[in-house]
Amino acid sequence: MLEVEGLTVAPPAGHDPPILNDVSLALAPGQVVGLVGESGSGKSTLARCLLRLEAPLCIHAGRILLNGRDLVGLSRGEMRRLRGRQIAMVQQDPAAALDPIFTLGSQLREFADTHARDLVDAPSERANGRNGQGLEGRIDALLAGVGIDRPGRRHRQFPHQWSRGMLQRTLLAMAAWPAPPLLILDEPTASLDPPIADRLLLDLQQTVTERRLAVLLITHDLAVAAQVCQSIAVLYRGRIVESGAARTILSNPSHDYTRALVASADW
Ligand SMILES: Nc1ncnc2c1ncn2[C@@H]1O[C@H](COP(=O)(O)OP(=O)(O)O)[C@@H](O)[C@H]1O
Ligand SMILES: [Mg+2]
Repeated sequence: MLEVEGLTVAPPAGHDPPILNDVSLALAPGQVVGLVGESGSGKSTLARCLLRLEAPLCIHAGRILLNGRDLVGLSRGEMRRLRGRQIAMVQQDPAAALDPIFTLGSQLREFADTHARDLVDAPSERANGRNGQGLEGRIDALLAGVGIDRPGRRHRQFPHQWSRGMLQRTLLAMAAWPAPPLLILDEPTASLDPPIADRLLLDLQQTVTERRLAVLLITHDLAVAAQVCQSIAVLYRGRIVESGAARTILSNPSHDYTRALVASADW
């Protein structure tokens, strides 16, 4: 479904070495691919490129094929129509994705209104007969699905009144709601307590199974990658230095940097 081929990204005037250097990566539906690498290796830059939000950097070479269509050649308008529907991303900082001066309820409603045509209810919601209940009820069902009780009261609260774990799980559920074929999660468990991080990863696995999304999971935490990814690509200074089945890479890393990562992992 997603094939990145030879992607090279640098400031417009060029940069030696480039920030992303000849990066290739592939993703299939129902698959979670981990993109791991130390801070500054280019993970978030790659995520932004997939949504064509790379400016002020430039794509100097390479292709980003989504179902055979090269995103590098698309206009701004064409990309705008794809974002949210075909490719969705949960950014590194959940608070930055929300507006601090509007209630969660109004932001959830705005999101649901914008994507109303594309929203898909989880099979578990349909089984509970919760379909056909209007947007408000569907928003409540979405929140209940991520363990947020008394959603009605929660609607009147502002982002700072929610914990980071609640925001992160809600943003993940929102991003997956229109069932975009490709979902990018940038460090979704960073700074979450381990039990909350575990719950988020369980939400993710359930979503992937139910909706057959392809997920690019960015993390600097190998334990997280080991828990949910079928395959892993290791980014080091803008280059993919190793990629393949998660089990193989974690048990038998071949690149020096990956060996160091595995040796320092906390599991
Ligand atoms: N707009 C930019 N101009 C110049 N350098 C940038 C720009 N954006 C990111 N970089 C550089 O690209 C490198 C990769 O950054 P980033 O993708 O955020 O890494 P990661 O997400 O892996 O921590 C860093 O060295 C960063 O300073
Ligand atoms: Mg980053």
